[in-house]
Amino acid sequence: MNIFINGIRGKMGKVLKKVILESDDFKYLGGYSSKKDEANLIYDDFNSIKEKIDVIIDFSNPKTLDAMLDYALINNIPLVIATTGYSDLELDKIKKASNNIAICQSYNMSLGINTLIEILNIASTMLNDFDIEIIEKHHNKKIDSPSGTAIMLANKITNLLTNRYITNREHSNNNLRNKDEIAIHAIRGGSIFGEHNVLFAGDDEVIEIKHTALSKDIFAKGSLKASLFLLNKNNGFYTMKDILGGM
Ligand SMILES: NC(=O)c1ccc[n+]([C@@H]2O[C@H](COP(=O)([O-])OP(=O)(O)OC[C@H]3O[C@@H](n4cnc5c(N)ncnc54)[C@H](OP(=O)(O)O)[C@@H]3O)[C@@H](O)[C@H]2O)c1
Repeated sequence: MNIFINGIRGKMGKVLKKVILESDDFKYLGGYSSKKDEANLIYDDFNSIKEKIDVIIDFSNPKTLDAMLDYALINNIPLVIATTGYSDLELDKIKKASNNIAICQSYNMSLGINTLIEILNIASTMLNDFDIEIIEKHHNKKIDSPSGTAIMLANKITNLLTNRYITNREHSNNNLRNKDEIAIHAIRGGSIFGEHNVLFAGDDEVIEIKHTALSKDIFAKGSLKASLFLLNKNNGFYTMKDILGGM
């Protein structure tokens, strides 16, 4: 299966290329870096490729979205979009494009986090009286905050409980915690790959559900699993839940 990587010079692009080269099932066709030519974003690299691109996997920056979607739509290529930090408008563009091509988009490609999300289904419903807080930790080079994964977890809980999430407690209710608010706390330091901890604090008891990424390979492997899933799909919007068998 022929893979093209958008974001090849980035940390994840390099990890994904390594995982592809170690695998018998995938072939690395090429990758795009914005350093080459901002004006001709993507096209130069794509056009120099002679073999058919089966899937484009994107670990880059939201700024590459428009050019990538245009190229994928014109050439009918499925997309695995792993980049984080999209605005609502950009997420709408992705969903609109999925009417014509197959797209899997997820702020976290790992099996563990996607399982954690399903555990949250049960915990949030059973412990809906508890105070829920999310603590995420990442390396000091991460450009978006809070992490896309933390937003994904918060959205899951708020959809279940009709609560709201905040990212800065300073301005809320004279610093007192509102009963119905979930706060995301973003910690940045060193080379932490990624930690997400969902804390349920009740009267005299606390539950913490924690995921730790020990290597970036988990995201690369998840994105390749998603590529396999998309291969024979004509169009549609998919998440990791679809890819992991509708847990
Ligand atoms: N969904 C998941 O499971 C998952 C897991 C890990 C990371 N991520 C996300 O994947 C993305 C890449 O992560 P990373 O750790 O590889 O980041 P990184 O090391 O900063 O790499 C970012 C990549 O984007 C490219 N890029 C293209 N246009 C850009 C622009 N206008 N500004 C900045 N960079 C631009 C950069 O390289 P050039 O400058 O050479 O183009 C580089 O290849 C991030 O959004 C991150 O949050 C998602």
